[in-house]
Amino acid sequence: MTAPRKLFIKTYGCQMNVYDSERMAESLGGAGYTLSDHVEGADMVLLNTCHIREKAAEKLYSDLGRIKKIKADHPNMKVAVAGCVAQAEGGEIMRRAPVVDLVVGPQSYHRLPALEAEIRTGKRALDTEFPPEDKFDHLPKRSTLGRATAFLTVQEGCDKFCAFCVVPYTRGAEVSRAPQRILAEATALVEKGVREITLLGQNVNGYHGSDGSKDWGLAQLIRALCDMKGLERVRYTTSHPNDMEDDLIRAHGDCEKLMPYLHLPVQSGSDPILKAMNRKHTAQDYLRLIERIRAARPDLLLSSDFIVGFPGETDADFAATLALVETVGFASAYSFKYSARPGTPAAERPNVPKDVSDERLQTLQQLISRQQKAAQDSMVGRELTVLFEKPGREPGQMVGKSEYLHAVHVPAPNVRAGDLRRVRIVKSMQNSLTGALIDDKTG
Ligand code: 5AD
Ligand code: SF4
Repeated sequence: MTAPRKLFIKTYGCQMNVYDSERMAESLGGAGYTLSDHVEGADMVLLNTCHIREKAAEKLYSDLGRIKKIKADHPNMKVAVAGCVAQAEGGEIMRRAPVVDLVVGPQSYHRLPALEAEIRTGKRALDTEFPPEDKFDHLPKRSTLGRATAFLTVQEGCDKFCAFCVVPYTRGAEVSRAPQRILAEATALVEKGVREITLLGQNVNGYHGSDGSKDWGLAQLIRALCDMKGLERVRYTTSHPNDMEDDLIRAHGDCEKLMPYLHLPVQSGSDPILKAMNRKHTAQDYLRLIERIRAARPDLLLSSDFIVGFPGETDADFAATLALVETVGFASAYSFKYSARPGTPAAERPNVPKDVSDERLQTLQQLISRQQKAAQDSMVGRELTVLFEKPGREPGQMVGKSEYLHAVHVPAPNVRAGDLRRVRIVKSMQNSLTGALIDDKTG
């Protein structure tokens, strides 16, 4: 028997890339590859890239510089670039980085074994087509798990065309997978021990899959998953406010397994900026929506994304963003400095000066981190349910996540990954909680 070949994968960016990297590892597993934690000694190095902001794309080229030096001593090592930078500038990568053997876009991952065989012959290959076949039909079954939580892609691409965003160009138009396929994948995950599934999509609440005779929305899919024996928790990300339909809001009230935590990007609190961003909702629309979701599920915690320094953003616009954050109160949020992306409508507009954006970003991040800490601190003294995922740093300690997505450290030598246990929260640390098992003398 030949020794397994070693595959090193580096994943940049979002959770969909994490999911895609797993699927690519499974796909190349069929070609004799096993995962390795080191670039040195790898037969194939695969960089799964992100194009959302300029910095994310630049990282690829600096990593390729380092890999080039390593490859000089390992001439048989193959280098592949996947993900959204591959899709957006595949030709340029080929020209700029001769160290790269293969460029493969997100819609072509099922072709990886064939592409790998091609580059083994010494050729270079580029595949950034949007092929007519569904890649999910051609990827192997989920195999590599043994974990308590998993991602499951239900929808890809986006038709919203926010003025700053490359996703509609790199991931293409919105495509939803058929519900039967998703439920089959979920069943396979649960059989492997998965207890929590996070449904993924660039615009996941825009999901509308057809079962052949009728259309399913995300709420219907969530309800079907919540009926699945052995599956204990469901989450979904990332959503657009305009696609939060009534049925989905209701599901937050009546599906016990749907976790009370929602990531709902708003991007800005200023109406003129929201309009310039092509978000097609106002700050008031967002606030009203939050009220309705909280009415359905009063303990729900919220998270969001913000962009500061979008072209044309004035001090008053930024103040409106701060006011929205104060009004909502987020348990966490990501904030980014606007980064002009080639090919997007906003890229042509005049930029806000860098020092102004830098200062706004700092101000916003300080406010968000105060809210984040307050939300975390408010858990102290409460009884929560923790899904344990792995051992902690200290002996006998286990780490898991609460319903509200906080990491919780608990002394629990007899608890295993995949166990759900009631925990009393005793302390709030910098980025996590500590707790003690309830109703358990032995841990
Ligand atoms: N510049 C800065 N942030 C961006 N995002 C998307 N495109 C850009 C850009 N050009 C942010 C948005 C989105 C998150 C995933 O990334 O806030 O919700
Ligand atoms: Fe990008 Fe999200 Fe807007 Fe779609 S909805 S264009 S993915 S920011």
